[in-house]
Amino acid sequence: MMGETKEIKIRLMSRDDIDVVVDVYGQVLTPDYLSFTELAEGSAASPHLVSNQAGEIIREQLLTKLKDTKYALFVATESEVLGFIVGALHKTEARHLECWIEDLGVRPDMQHQGIGAQLVGKVVEWGRNHSAKYFLLESGAKNEAAHRFFTHLGFHLFSHVFWRDP
Ligand SMILES: CC(C)(COP(=O)(O)OP(=O)(O)OC[C@H]1O[C@@H](n2cnc3c(N)ncnc32)[C@H](O)[C@@H]1OP(=O)(O)O)[C@@H](O)C(=O)NCCC(=O)NCCS
Repeated sequence: MMGETKEIKIRLMSRDDIDVVVDVYGQVLTPDYLSFTELAEGSAASPHLVSNQAGEIIREQLLTKLKDTKYALFVATESEVLGFIVGALHKTEARHLECWIEDLGVRPDMQHQGIGAQLVGKVVEWGRNHSAKYFLLESGAKNEAAHRFFTHLGFHLFSHVFWRDP
């Protein structure tokens, strides 16, 4: 059931937010969150195991992306940061722009209040303003709550990614 949307503000992330954002990321980064991106970047030791370096990896990524206009990083705040989202524009081989939601997290004690939907809405607005042809994200196969959430927001399952041991 969708309840009342909480009175929160969505604003651009700044360097000063990074510590709290890394903390929120650490709280939502469960094995269910993991997908091929986390494997590729080293944040996952395997499809089932979060890497010890995950916090430092996201910190470096956020610092880099804050300086790059291909990315839009937003935080949801009341008096403190409650959630974050990373949007990315990618120019495809067909030379159009697609917009990815690369990371998204809402503090577990603040979920189910519409904050995640507002963060996604902000990236969708940003992507539309930059003429993105469509929006994409990838999500761990077992992350069913996130799948329901994105379906609710108009996303459709598009492909499956398979993995095996060497
Ligand atoms: C996925 C995630 C970002 C959603 O954030 P959120 O702030 O809880 O999202 P919302 O509140 O906007 O909506 C979440 C669900 O709560 C429901 N909801 C919203 N307000 C509610 C309320 N007051 N009471 C009960 N349910 C409510 C929504 O309908 C939605 O349910 P549904 O998915 O079954 O349709 C959050 O759960 C999260 O951080 N998960 C861990 C990280 C993660 O998986 N990120 C995505 C990786 S791809």
